[in-house]
Amino acid sequence: MNWRFEYHETLGSTSDLCKIRAEAGEPEYLAVQAFSQTSGRGTRGRTWTDPGGNLAISLLFRPVDPATFIAALPFLAAVTLYETAMHFCPATVGPTPFMVKWPNDLLLDGRKMAGVLIETGGPQSMPWVVVGIGANLTQAPEILGRSLAALSEKTAVPSAKAFGEILVAQIERWTAILAKQGFAPIRAAWLARAHPVGSRLAVQGCETYITGSFSGLDAQGRLLLTLPNGETIPVVTGDILLD
Ligand code: BTN
Repeated sequence: MNWRFEYHETLGSTSDLCKIRAEAGEPEYLAVQAFSQTSGRGTRGRTWTDPGGNLAISLLFRPVDPATFIAALPFLAAVTLYETAMHFCPATVGPTPFMVKWPNDLLLDGRKMAGVLIETGGPQSMPWVVVGIGANLTQAPEILGRSLAALSEKTAVPSAKAFGEILVAQIERWTAILAKQGFAPIRAAWLARAHPVGSRLAVQGCETYITGSFSGLDAQGRLLLTLPNGETIPVVTGDILLD
């Protein structure tokens, strides 16, 4: 894969520009990065605040088998985020402060450090997938957020450019694993970096709130939630709140 990096000082949203490039017929492996965003978008129509100094990058793929790729992508992205964060904080003593949370958040000390927005489109003959990734490196604007700078006494905060380069290298590595070996190794890597099986959690939907314990992932990446009555149900969507 030969990734082409397009850097911008400021953009509304890297994903918006990447989607414009996709619709215009741009080949895959384009990375659009901005050093600040004025209208960054999060999942479920939320705003992603990005005052500058953080990672904001969107990656264009044109998978041959979009359904298989899209199903694995949240987990692939979360694992690469975890590994990129660890790359810059290798000297952390004791248990790692990083954890992935279903399906694709990266937590630092239990608070959100990075998130992923996956969007798809295009005609069947030329579909596109844009993966937008935001990581709080110097600033964590959300109340519940945490930035990598919180670890800065132990390690220097990487530049957004350096973080983006390592992240894309990791994405490339895991995309090759997915192509050769399928979802199983990604699922295993994700489980090894996630909240442990048995963790208490709640799933917040639009109008639902279900509590239970985490029982792993099924082969499709659905979260398995064991309810207080012992029944285990697959969860497809919702915000996960950890105890
Ligand atoms: C989430 O809500 O957890 C996902 C946040 C994704 C934010 C990134 S920043 C780069 C890209 N451009 C956007 O407008 N959003 C994504």
